[in-house]
Amino acid sequence: MREAGLDGLASRLTEKGTLTSDWLPMFKAVPRELFVPDLMWPGQTKGTGQGEAIDRNEDPEAWFTAVYSDVSLTTQWDDGKHSGTGKGKSPTCSNSQPSMVFSMLTALDVRQSSRVLEIGTGTGWNAALLSERVGPGNVVTVEVDEDNATSARERMKALGYQPTMIVGDGAEGYNKGAPYDRVLVTASLTEVPHRVIGQVRTGGIIVAPYATTYGGEGVVRLVVQRDGSAVGSFIGSSAFMRLRQQRQFRKHTREYLGGKEWPADGVQSMTPISPEELGDWLPMFAIGLQTQGIFPWAETYDDGSYTLWLRDTAVTSWATVDYEPGRKEFEVYQSGPRDLWDEVAVAYEYWDTQGRPGWERFGLTVDGETGEHTPWLDSPSAPLRPVV
Ligand SMILES: C[S@@+](CC[C@H](N)C(=O)[O-])C[C@H]1O[C@@H](n2cnc3c(N)ncnc32)[C@H](O)[C@@H]1O
Repeated sequence: MREAGLDGLASRLTEKGTLTSDWLPMFKAVPRELFVPDLMWPGQTKGTGQGEAIDRNEDPEAWFTAVYSDVSLTTQWDDGKHSGTGKGKSPTCSNSQPSMVFSMLTALDVRQSSRVLEIGTGTGWNAALLSERVGPGNVVTVEVDEDNATSARERMKALGYQPTMIVGDGAEGYNKGAPYDRVLVTASLTEVPHRVIGQVRTGGIIVAPYATTYGGEGVVRLVVQRDGSAVGSFIGSSAFMRLRQQRQFRKHTREYLGGKEWPADGVQSMTPISPEELGDWLPMFAIGLQTQGIFPWAETYDDGSYTLWLRDTAVTSWATVDYEPGRKEFEVYQSGPRDLWDEVAVAYEYWDTQGRPGWERFGLTVDGETGEHTPWLDSPSAPLRPVV
């Protein structure tokens, strides 16, 4: 059953085009099941979020089926503070979705004996796959969580791989192992760490999930340039766990209302843009690339209507847009020095008028000296104008 599971998943990933012939031997040599703990929460095949826990000791068949499915498997909640079979508040470690793992490995374009830095060891599966491909002596993997690192080390050792394992903040990279030819990041970044770029040789490649403050996330493939900058396009959508130090903590809406009842001092207007149009991952990403420090939240009601809240990270401004099914115009309230709905609407309309570009038309330049991030559309010479 185990072999059938592994071979079955290999065939499905090969058909999808995500598992290429150069990674197939590693997929077989490093069985996923050896990198998944007995207790885990499989991702849903449709949508996001985790299903109920599966304990291998209680239901080995369900466990193997999940391991050899193309879904991510959550292995830790709340930085390890949560225990038991229920779900915690936030998933903080997983064995990533196989099609995502191999798409990213393919984008990394490793050569024989490339020196690779991985940020986010997690369960150790990726580091073991890389060790099999380029040799463990060429792999450095950094994990912030001591327990995750210990389990990953044991799993890799059992298969004979002992890459350099560092417990610490991956945003620092690992200078002693530099220069690297490739960097693979498996926790999402809101900023590509300047220090890490500096540890990559010219022409080297960084593959990382990049998340915007507004929401939406995509995998970017950056090539390090002679001048120290890193430039490249996005290759597709992603939804990784945030790098621990780059998590954002949000203040409650009441902190924005200054002790008053909504709509407080908000200025009313109407918009023909339905909040429904902005809710998908791609428009969120496009809006996020153009706006600064705005984040959305939906307050939902039983009748299918909801209020889209927009707040700024500086806690100066807020906006609400009320969605009701069947309406052609939607009520807006805005308060504070920034008109957050207007900013979001401008960003959305730009994306719409450009033909609703997908991930691959967007790219990112990170300046080598200042660390400034400049997103672009189609070409690095066409930076997206930040909406203000
Ligand atoms: C999605 S998992 C990584 C999956 C992993 N590559 C695998 O093969 O299982 C994300 C991991 O990133 C780790 N992480 C979060 N912040 C980090 C940081 N600043 N430095 C290093 N690792 C970090 C988390 O603890 C978690 O284990």
